[in-house]
Amino acid sequence: MDPGSPPPPDTVRIYEVGPRDGLQNEATAVPTEAKLGYIELLVAAGLREIEVTSFVSPRAIPQLADADELLPRLPATAGVRYPVLVPNERGLARAEAAGARALAVFTAATDAFTERNIGMTVAASLDAAAPVLRRAAALGWWRRGYVSTAFGCPYAGAVEPARAVDVAIRLLGLGVDEVCFGDTIGVGVPGQVAALTGAATAAGIPLDRIAFHFHDTRGTALANVAAGLDAGVRCFDASAGGTGGCPYAPGAAGNLATEDLVYFLDASGWSHGVDLEGVLAAAQFAAQTLGKPLSTKVGQAGGWDPATGQPTGRTAAPSPGRPLGRA
Ligand code: COA
Ligand code: ZN
Repeated sequence: MDPGSPPPPDTVRIYEVGPRDGLQNEATAVPTEAKLGYIELLVAAGLREIEVTSFVSPRAIPQLADADELLPRLPATAGVRYPVLVPNERGLARAEAAGARALAVFTAATDAFTERNIGMTVAASLDAAAPVLRRAAALGWWRRGYVSTAFGCPYAGAVEPARAVDVAIRLLGLGVDEVCFGDTIGVGVPGQVAALTGAATAAGIPLDRIAFHFHDTRGTALANVAAGLDAGVRCFDASAGGTGGCPYAPGAAGNLATEDLVYFLDASGWSHGVDLEGVLAAAQFAAQTLGKPLSTKVGQAGGWDPATGQPTGRTAAPSPGRPLGRA
């Protein structure tokens, strides 16, 4: 599916965040070559929107300090979008020089979080995003805006849906194509997803401009996806291998695993264009690169073939040293 064309109603967009959100919080420094290997496997699995890195301060996120080198080396596959996270005009200039065509800006529902994450209030972060989004629009880039801590904040506690929706409306006013509500620390439950979606649409935000980003800290991520689907949202973030977290969000565990999401969507009859076995290969590659066992549910159990009753996809991990064909 070309990410530029409107999807049919039974289609879900899976927005892969493993290379960015997944790797930004890992203690192991992942070499650029291995990141490329991971991304190539994600593309081969059919993922068409892959957030690949951040053009933030290398002191803030050393894991992604190779963004300038990584971006020009990504496989140029038709129909694949590679958004990058950009905090300011300096980051935009770096992203532009590296050949980016899509970006994500980020703020949050709570000042307490943005102050720790990026050293400014929500209002100041929106002011910082404005010229970045203007320039990206002039360049014809696709633009996403994150509202982190939309379900709860590690510093400010409970977050009312109206607060997150207000920030989303401001981002849309600054020209983002899509807003993504993040459950940064994985505290949300399905009722909150329904309430937030209802508040967003009541405030005039179209469903096709809403995405959700769930962390599976407390095991509620897939239930939250189900609630999002029921409410009419059709874009969900996930990370192959379930890696991830935010260094400025203590206690945040990994993202919803792409393999868990793909299994759930397949078995529920949704179209999404992503191949579970391909995702499992990417997940295993990520785990091996990070030197950890793959601990996601479907990563451990495999898929399931209803014709035979047997698990599928528990193949050996591709070796990080093995040269991978460019798609
Ligand atoms: N790329 C590279 N370096 C950057 C940069 C960018 N986009 N923006 C700022 N810097 C550098 C500055 O040059 C300065 O470097 P120096 O100390 O060597 O002179 C340093 O970072 C601080 O810059 P300053 O403008 O004072 O910003 P700050 O200290 O208030 O930091 C951010 C603001 C947003 C740049 C920084 O907090 C950041 O990058 N945070 C990333 C947060 C993140 O990615 N979180 C996870 C995602 S949710
Ligand atoms: Zn996240």
